[in-house]
Amino acid sequence: MGRLQNRTAVITGGGSGMGAAVVGRFVEEGARVVVLDRVQDKLDALEASYGDAVRGVLGSVTEYADNAQACAVAQREFGGLDVFIGNAGIWDFSRALLDSTPEHLVAGFDELFSVNVKGYVLGARAAAPLLRESRGSMIFTLSNAAFYPGGGGVLYTAAKHAGHGLVRQLAYELAPEIRVNAVAPGGMATDLRGPAAMDLSGESISTAIPIGQIVRENSALEIEPLPEDYAEAYVLLGAARESRTATGTVIDLSGFGTPRRPR
Ligand SMILES: NC(=O)c1ccc[n+]([C@@H]2O[C@H](COP(=O)([O-])OP(=O)(O)OC[C@H]3O[C@@H](n4cnc5c(N)ncnc54)[C@H](O)[C@@H]3O)[C@@H](O)[C@H]2O)c1
Repeated sequence: MGRLQNRTAVITGGGSGMGAAVVGRFVEEGARVVVLDRVQDKLDALEASYGDAVRGVLGSVTEYADNAQACAVAQREFGGLDVFIGNAGIWDFSRALLDSTPEHLVAGFDELFSVNVKGYVLGARAAAPLLRESRGSMIFTLSNAAFYPGGGGVLYTAAKHAGHGLVRQLAYELAPEIRVNAVAPGGMATDLRGPAAMDLSGESISTAIPIGQIVRENSALEIEPLPEDYAEAYVLLGAARESRTATGTVIDLSGFGTPRRPR
C-alpha cells in the first residue's frame, strides 16, 4: 500500500517541472491530486495521463478565489484535503540589480512577489480550514535561492527567502493541527518562466540557458538534477506518519551549501 493511500492533495503549478514530478509520485503512492495551473494544455495532459486520480483547475495562484476553488474541488471530488503544496513560481533569470531598469524592478517586483509569495499566502489561507480538520500538512517549494545568493537575481532571491520566513511563521501559527514544511530543489531544466512585466515570460530556463550543464559544472556533486530527484521529499513531508515530528523545516536537497572542490 502506498504511503499516501487515500490522501488528497492540492498542488499549485503542477502542470510541469517540479510540480508535475510531485503529481506523478503522489499518484504512485495512492494519493488523489487537484492541480491548480494557469495553462490549460498542461492540465489536459495530466488528466489524460492519470485519469480519475487527478483533477485540473485552471486559474492563477495570485487570486484567492482560484486557490479556494482548487481546495473546494478536492473536498467535493475527493472528500477532503490532507496536503497543500504551494509550488507555482516564476524566476527573474538572475537579473542583477544594476542590470535592471527602475521600471522593470517596480513592475517585476509586483509580478514575481505576487506569484511566489502572495500565491503561497493565499493558498495557505484557502487550505488551512480543511487541513485543520484532517490534521494535514502544507509543503512549499523553495530553492537554493532561499539560502544562498546567485541562484536568482535580487527579486527571486528575496522572494524565496520570504518563502522561508513564511514556512517558519505558518508552522508557528498553525500548530499543533497543521505541519508546515518546505523542499528546496536546485537548478533543473523545466518550463520555469519570468515576469511578463520584465519581458521575461517568452522563454523558459531550459531554453534560455544550459541550466543542467551550469549546475553540473558548479556544484560539488557534479550532476544535472531532474525534478524526479526531489519528489521523494514531498512524499515524506506529505505522509501522515513518516514525518509527524517535522514542522517549520526546509529540506535543502540542492547540495548548493557545499562548494565544489578545486581540482
Ligand atoms: N527550475 C529550477 O531551476 C528551480 C530551482 C529551484 C526551485 N524552483 C522552484 O520550483 C517551482 C516550480 O518551478 P519549475 O522549475 O517546475 O517551473 P515550471 O514552469 O515547469 O512549473 C511551474 C508551473 O507553475 C505554473 N504557474 C506559473 N505561474 C502561475 C500562476 N500565477 N498561477 C498558477 N500556475 C502558475 C506554470 O504554468 C507551470 O506549470 C517554483 O517555485 C520554482 O521557483 C525551480
